[in-house]
Amino acid sequence: MDLMNYQAKAPFTQKHLLTLQDWSEDEIYQCLSHALKLKAMQKSGQKQSCLSGKTLAMIFAKSSTRTRVSFEVGASQLGGSALFLSTSDIQLGRGEPISDTAQVLSRMVDGIMIRTFKQSDLEALAKYGSIPIINGLTDEFHPCQVLADLMTIYEKKGTLKGLKLAFVGDGNNMAHSLMIGCSKLGLDVSIASPDGYKPNPVYTAWAVANAEKHGSKVTICTDPLEACKDADVLYTDVWASMGQEGEAEVRKQAFSSYQINADCLAVAKKDCIFLHCLPAHRGEEVTSEVIDGAHSVIFDEAENRLHAQKGVMALLMGNGGF
Ligand code: CP
Ligand code: NVA
Repeated sequence: MDLMNYQAKAPFTQKHLLTLQDWSEDEIYQCLSHALKLKAMQKSGQKQSCLSGKTLAMIFAKSSTRTRVSFEVGASQLGGSALFLSTSDIQLGRGEPISDTAQVLSRMVDGIMIRTFKQSDLEALAKYGSIPIINGLTDEFHPCQVLADLMTIYEKKGTLKGLKLAFVGDGNNMAHSLMIGCSKLGLDVSIASPDGYKPNPVYTAWAVANAEKHGSKVTICTDPLEACKDADVLYTDVWASMGQEGEAEVRKQAFSSYQINADCLAVAKKDCIFLHCLPAHRGEEVTSEVIDGAHSVIFDEAENRLHAQKGVMALLMGNGGF
């Protein structure tokens, strides 16, 4: 499939990006196609202006490097601007209702990207606001990261359908969004997590059923090598996510054998690539040898956050233009 020249099957009608569950396969392809085109335009110095005169509010209740920079730089490259709002500075952090915040911001800005804890807070912003809401990570999902990941896999492999992605580690927001996103586009996903840390069974059941519809498979297992066998893409994430700092020591024990290392590379496909959403802990979920080795494409992946997030903003806030 030539994703750069993807022909949409239907008009893009999504108002928000709360979870990739809501977006169709066609809509995800449209976004990836936009991201690839915007990347090429940026590299060749072509001006983009679809966000001209528009402002994105970025609310952060958790730390960020990639998400903040990609949205802020991306909005500016599209001719618009972005506003960084830490919850420790705005009234939301002092208890102002999310419904009021949504209505106030809807009068002043053209879209909200939020990184927070509860998915229900995003849903409340979407319910009470009248502008697009973008999930910049919650405890449940990280859809923006997965769009950049799919873009990176496509660039490296030239295809998406029929590939196998192995995820080793915590059944967290990344595991959820990867199995949802991959199952939409026909990639097989195998997740290896210790008991007690497997992905939420509700999302697993959803992804398993969705994969069947798209001719792929989602499987959950306990053995990292079983997940990595014949994989085209190896993926991992931190053992303790933001908000779980207090569990770090317990998690270190639970996840000690859940590491992407040379043994995983040995059973995966010879030309497999290694992805990590970052930030990473070398020596914990991945060895330095792998993350800094020949299979790793983590910095191309991180760069693609910029292009993928521009694709999202162009579709949701820029009427699908450039
Ligand atoms: N991967 C990712 O979302 O990175 P940040 O936490 O730096 O935004
Ligand atoms: N699972 C990690 C992802 C960071 C991008 C976290 O939520 O902290």
